[in-house]
Amino acid sequence: MRYKNVAKVLISEEEIIKRTNVLAKQITEDYKGEKLLLVCILRGASLFFADLVRKIDLDVNFDFMAVSSYGAGTSSSGEVRIIKDICEPVEGKNVILVEDIIDSGNTLQYLVRLLKQRNPKSIKIAALLDKPERREVSIQGDYIGFTIPNEFVVGYGLDYNEKYRNIPEVCVLKSEIYES
Ligand code: PRP
Repeated sequence: MRYKNVAKVLISEEEIIKRTNVLAKQITEDYKGEKLLLVCILRGASLFFADLVRKIDLDVNFDFMAVSSYGAGTSSSGEVRIIKDICEPVEGKNVILVEDIIDSGNTLQYLVRLLKQRNPKSIKIAALLDKPERREVSIQGDYIGFTIPNEFVVGYGLDYNEKYRNIPEVCVLKSEIYES
């Protein structure tokens, strides 16, 4: 049933695992000898976060942040509300924000600005998906899984109206579902 409204699989489970392992290896090399705070931006990034962190061979801490965009429908508005802040102090730490997707870029722009005020040693972005065609602000990821076209995707953590997050692949939703 979870595939009922799916038009096609865009990225397979195997491709996701392969690419996630490459990103984890790159992060492991880039932060050798350093401590790292990995911040999962709930909820969409939860599956990517879980797969990415277990392949990073470093001394890491986890934290979680929940945010909500004030926008409705399929695009965020630029105004971001913090539902749950991180628990760890970030001062002097290397931070990587882990996201499922960079779309307009509004969410990450807001979060990077917010966390920079707390004086981290460094702050970077890891995102499974990047949709550059939709960008409204100048922000780019440091560790990107896949650059994708402007199609409405669900699965592997991404939802439409809170459904489809448990599909193990990244899929394109049938347009009649979100256009109706
Ligand atoms: C999604 C996604 C990013 C944001 C990206 O979150 O997880 O946080 O939108 O869009 P942007 O680049 O246009 O800001 P959403 O608000 O759908 O919440 P969710 O993670 O709980 O699904």
